[in-house]
Amino acid sequence: MRAPMSDRLRLMVILLLAISSEGSPSDRDEPKKKPSEQLVPVGATTALMCEPAFVSDSKATWFRDGSPVATVSNHSNAIYQNRSPTAPAAEKLPEVGFLTIFNVSKEDQGTYWCRRETDGQFGEVFNLQVAFLDVPTDFHITLSSKHPKTGESFYAHCPIPEGFPTPRITWTVNEMPMSHVSSDFEVFANGTLHLPRMSFHHFGTLECRALNFAGKAIARTFVSSRELHPQMESIQMESIGNSLRGSFHSACFMFLMGCLATCACVLIYLLGVVCLMRRRPRLTLRPTWWSRGDPALAPGFRKAVVPLPDCFANARMLSPA
Ligand SMILES: *[C@@H]1O[C@H](CO)[C@@H](O)[C@H](O)[C@H]1NC(C)=O
Ligand SMILES: *[C@@H]1O[C@H](CO)[C@@H](O)[C@H](O)[C@H]1NC(C)=O
Ligand SMILES: *[C@@H]1O[C@H](CO)[C@@H](O)[C@H](O)[C@H]1NC(C)=O
Repeated sequence: MRAPMSDRLRLMVILLLAISSEGSPSDRDEPKKKPSEQLVPVGATTALMCEPAFVSDSKATWFRDGSPVATVSNHSNAIYQNRSPTAPAAEKLPEVGFLTIFNVSKEDQGTYWCRRETDGQFGEVFNLQVAFLDVPTDFHITLSSKHPKTGESFYAHCPIPEGFPTPRITWTVNEMPMSHVSSDFEVFANGTLHLPRMSFHHFGTLECRALNFAGKAIARTFVSSRELHPQMESIQMESIGNSLRGSFHSACFMFLMGCLATCACVLIYLLGVVCLMRRRPRLTLRPTWWSRGDPALAPGFRKAVVPLPDCFANARMLSPA
């Protein structure tokens, strides 16, 4: 007889507890909104806005991962950790509750939100991600062979620097993207470049670039073949000669085009001057043949007078008709 009674009591207590915990807003410190991603490079400045907009005369608290970090109001902003501004000339933000983070560092990564004090309403939630690129001091390329032969398989390794977002590796040979130089190459996820068959145009300055939103790192090395050295030099010389000859030809062509353009300009100018000089002394108005000749025109129109430049008038006078 007593057991069901105590069960009912327990149930009531649990229900009451559940209702009371739901009723007090202070127990729920985490906003339910989906955070918006905010990617900021190391050392930069960012300002987070307390939205939705304040109602007048309200205060709000900025939280980072659940702990309060600053308070703002409808007419004041806050600076995170009271850091000194890195750029004094930074444009002035309106004082409406911004949280400004100067000189962002990797440790600042986290979830930020603001909450109105009057009604406990949450503003927008930001997930601050810090973009960085940590380049090791000895960032260099390692080659599978110092002097590869043509036709050989060849590897070059570029260490991927630590960074967020993961840096992208690109390779160039003599400042040309690898895809322009070779149709047969592979770049592995670990940063290794593989050329299955070494050829002449793979020799020269090999460069690896690691790039992400926060910065870039560059490593260079020179790849030559000892055995083919004299031959390679001659090839290089030849290609230099060719390119020189090419540039000489294009220079000649451009020069001739320039000459032609200048001649044309001078000719046009002279014609214009001759025309104007012959015209200036006496500016006369003469009727032309087409304005006089048509008998179908009303009498008033017969004597229509149309100005005609002297060049044309004189030309007409020269002709026997
Ligand atoms: C902030 O609130 C005060 C008090 O209500 C009001 O006088 C002021 O105009 C508000 N400021 C802004 C920028 O809304
Ligand atoms: C920015 O912060 C780093 C440490 O995170 C510090 O070494 C550097 O001096 C700071 N720069 C400025 C301009 O305050
Ligand atoms: C990188 O990956 C490739 C393919 O998985 C492998 O052949 C090469 O040895 C690796 N390089 C280094 C330095 O680990």
